[in-house]
Amino acid sequence: ADPARQQAFDSAIEAGRKIEPQDWMPEAYRRTLVRQISQHAHSEVVGMLPEGNWITRAPSLRRKAILLAKVQDEGGHGLYLYSAAETLGVSRDELVEALLSGKAKYSSIFNYPALGWADMGCIGWLVDGAAIMNQIPLCRCSYGPYARAMIRICKEESFHQRQGYELMLALCRGTAAQKAMAQEALDRWWWPVVMMFGPSDAESVHSAQTMKWGIKRISNDDLRQKFIDATVPQAELLGLEIPDPHLKWNAERGHYDHGPIDWSEFWRVVDGDGPCNRERLETRRRAHANGAWVREAALAHARKRARRARQ
Ligand code: ACO
Repeated sequence: ADPARQQAFDSAIEAGRKIEPQDWMPEAYRRTLVRQISQHAHSEVVGMLPEGNWITRAPSLRRKAILLAKVQDEGGHGLYLYSAAETLGVSRDELVEALLSGKAKYSSIFNYPALGWADMGCIGWLVDGAAIMNQIPLCRCSYGPYARAMIRICKEESFHQRQGYELMLALCRGTAAQKAMAQEALDRWWWPVVMMFGPSDAESVHSAQTMKWGIKRISNDDLRQKFIDATVPQAELLGLEIPDPHLKWNAERGHYDHGPIDWSEFWRVVDGDGPCNRERLETRRRAHANGAWVREAALAHARKRARRARQ
């Protein structure tokens, strides 16, 4: 590497200046960003599936409009993020191909099924709540296009979290059967959501380097702790019980202690053997194939316009 360029990069990181696509960057920094941003984009797109299934079954017009808007937002987030990844010199086609072939990772959480309407509440409240916790620090990430995409995404995620919590509140203030639905969904989603933040700091292979580069600002375990601390009082307000018998306020630490996480389940899901991994990829592949005519039509239109502009 050219020492002068490396030094310019290092001092930009040190001074908290953004790295932009036209700037020189170490190859490993570029590769790490492509990995993380594309995994993030795939998560947004696959994340449309568990909720997409419920749009036709929403219990009222209001709930349907909210859910529809939210699922469309997730698709938009995927598109901003693919664009951010493209500024690093990869093509969207190769990223999508890596997802469809099963090579690329996406968030473990979207491999769990949404079995009932209360799951729409839990996904918004907890999954989007965890996503915001992880994404707010990414607004300060050292790579400009990723940081800027995150600002808009976080605003929309905040709406997603609120609509989920409001849905949970409606169920918990409803009939005993509705409240039981809310509790049952929380029982299923809690641990997978706690795992979303990724392996413990001791096991996180990328953290040390990505923190040095100012991509990751807060560690996996610290974000997980912040999420649990914020969520426990929200569950109390709902009158729901978090399914962790070890969950307890620790006055000395000023945080909640929690029970052990089943990392074997986490890695099983990450490695492709969760409850819905195959179904999610199958649905994505089908959607991609069904959309082929739209891509062809858009390309034909672009070619026609380019031809006209030349004439
Ligand atoms: N699901 C699937 N894979 C995961 C998860 C998870 N919840 N958490 C970690 N991993 C993977 C990592 O991608 C990495 O795999 P790789 O080396 O093949 O790329 C491996 O486990 C080791 O983990 P870490 O070293 O901790 O990886 P990293 O530093 O990238 O941290 C994290 C993981 C926190 C998810 C980070 O990549 C990140 O902040 N990404 C951006 C946010 C994001 O993708 N959110 C998606 C869910 S939110 C939503 O879409 C609504």
